[in-house]
Amino acid sequence: MQLIFCALFNDQSFDKSTRVTRKILTNPKHVNYQSNSLRSPAKEKLIMFGLAGGDPRLSFKRTIAYGDLAIVYEKHEIMRPIIVTPNAELHNRFGVFMHNDWVGKPFGSRVLSVKGVQGYVYILAATPEIWTLCLQHRTQILYLADISLVIMYLEIVPGCLVLESGTGTGSLTTSIARSVAPNGHVHTFDFHEQRAQSARADFDKNGISNLVTVGVRDIQGEGFPDEFQAKVDSIFLDLPQPWCVVPSAAKMLKQDGVMCSFSPCIEQVQCTCEALASQFTEIRTFEILLRHYEILRDTGATSEMESGNSRKRKHDPSSVNDSIATTTTVFARPCRFAKGHTGYLTFARLKFKSS
Ligand SMILES: C[S@@+](CC[C@H](N)C(=O)[O-])C[C@H]1O[C@@H](n2cnc3c(N)ncnc32)[C@H](O)[C@@H]1O
Repeated sequence: MQLIFCALFNDQSFDKSTRVTRKILTNPKHVNYQSNSLRSPAKEKLIMFGLAGGDPRLSFKRTIAYGDLAIVYEKHEIMRPIIVTPNAELHNRFGVFMHNDWVGKPFGSRVLSVKGVQGYVYILAATPEIWTLCLQHRTQILYLADISLVIMYLEIVPGCLVLESGTGTGSLTTSIARSVAPNGHVHTFDFHEQRAQSARADFDKNGISNLVTVGVRDIQGEGFPDEFQAKVDSIFLDLPQPWCVVPSAAKMLKQDGVMCSFSPCIEQVQCTCEALASQFTEIRTFEILLRHYEILRDTGATSEMESGNSRKRKHDPSSVNDSIATTTTVFARPCRFAKGHTGYLTFARLKFKSS
């Protein structure tokens, strides 16, 4: 349990940030969007860790305060977003918890119930990874495996200007926002007024509204607004007929800009690739099939799934932590119910236009 938990909320590894910095320094297109603050190595490091400008709540604020969006973690399948509120109580099957008790503790803390069963939950920071797993769906959404590839192949780094349509539930937008922080921006468009409004409210709750602007617009009918012409680093489309938007995307992208289209059906991919052929190069389509593993523990008497024992979970004051007894064997096996096809991701780079 300890291992999985650490992996879950240690979302900003040094390695990852190092790679991002290398990109900023070697690719002039990304330096353009950095402010003058990219002068000293110390400042650079601050940007790398998301601490210079922007909202620290994005990932790096490590202490719980009133007004924070926090995730109450019971187990992988049960996570609940909550706003930390003075004198509020949380009731669940593990007892009654007081929000006041959490304030000042680091995110990731285990907190104890004050009434009812003597249970506990973990209070996690609402990172984009966790948010995607517990947000309220208003549409189909992109999940972590697809999101990861999108961020990497769209080359989204701090300072980028990104266009997206449709916004949907904002699952992908939240990750893009973190990647462009602290001084980049995402302009996301949906033609559904109510969805756009709900997405704005979610971005506000997540503390990223300074990084995201939600527009209401029929992108398939009208294309992206002219104001972005030749200014955009990356474009992402999750629309029923993405091929209609390819000419507009080509106009918006800067030299060397990259676009991606997510489509569930291969016929959509075919139409998109045909539309891309004249103005784009490096056209590639991927389908990601992720394999999950169950972590199990065998106590000798019975085998029990690690994540399935939380019904019996009680706080034992005599134990320092959740460590598994020395006689327990821990092993892993592929999950019986694997998530299959989500969609196809088609990437393409704008062809070089000689002037
Ligand atoms: C599947 S959802 C996008 C989900 C999003 N990628 C996420 O991760 O949450 C597709 C969205 O595209 C929007 N949409 C469909 N046609 C559109 C159009 N012509 N212009 C703008 N948005 C459109 C829909 O309203 C819907 O919200």
